[in-house]
Amino acid sequence: MKLYLLLTFLCVGGLHEWPICARAFSKTPVPTHTALSQKHVNSFKPTLLYASSVSPEKDRLDTNPSTKFGSPLSDSVKEMNRFAIGFLKGTLFDNLFIGEDRAYARFYALETIARVPYFSYLSVLHLYETLGKWRRSKYLKLHFAESWNEMHHLLIMEELGGNARFSDRFVAQHLAVGYFAFAALLYLINPVEAYNLNQDVEEHAFATYDEYLRENAEMLKTKPPPKAAIEYYLEGDMYMFDEFQTECEMRRPEIRNLYDVFVAIRDDEMAHVKTMAKLQTELDISSMNEGECEIPDHI
Ligand SMILES: [Fe+2]
Ligand SMILES: [Fe+2]
Repeated sequence: MKLYLLLTFLCVGGLHEWPICARAFSKTPVPTHTALSQKHVNSFKPTLLYASSVSPEKDRLDTNPSTKFGSPLSDSVKEMNRFAIGFLKGTLFDNLFIGEDRAYARFYALETIARVPYFSYLSVLHLYETLGKWRRSKYLKLHFAESWNEMHHLLIMEELGGNARFSDRFVAQHLAVGYFAFAALLYLINPVEAYNLNQDVEEHAFATYDEYLRENAEMLKTKPPPKAAIEYYLEGDMYMFDEFQTECEMRRPEIRNLYDVFVAIRDDEMAHVKTMAKLQTELDISSMNEGECEIPDHI
């Protein structure tokens, strides 16, 4: 039984080209290794969870990551993801963190949990590299830059006192561990689904910060920026900051007070949304640091 579970995990996770996987999971007779045509190899791709809504025209095969790295999602699956994330936010976050004085604790928990998918993607990509299956160093760099950005959001929330209560740390950190495993498994099964789900998470993060900014603008403008924000947005090496702006937006946030810090964080969340959306439809991504973007002279 244990052996079967391990085999299922490996086959679904990416080793479905192995003849042993084909034998175990295909009902049709399996050709011998020497007779294994590309058509047969393609037919072994895991399709157990998601129906395709994209027509398989030949000219899309080279540009759509779904054909090389995961499976395309139907609109109903995207809708289901949106509902699941909205439901979790409404039941968990909106009940655990009620009231103005709980805002920083809420953001601390959000940042602890929301950066975890990037660790999961990195772990799976390392696994693929180790197995010699898929080499994509750009994705490693991008997702590490995204996790670096989210880590600084977390440092800012900690400096603001969001992690003061043991109960908040306990809940956030335990959820993060569970979410790591879930996101890694999802990324193994279908990276497009993992990116889509995280796009919804990042959209909620953007909306949460945006609402907080609108409701607390005057108060935030009277407070100084945390040290972690000054170091990251003003004094730090901007290489990592630029690396996750896949839309070629050269952003240089102004940090004069706490309001500016929350504006920068909110805009970072939108950059993550755009990156997650892009990775569902394009295999390649632009990097400012590799000269793939046109940067205006005045910046
Ligand atoms: Fe964040
Ligand atoms: Fe985020």
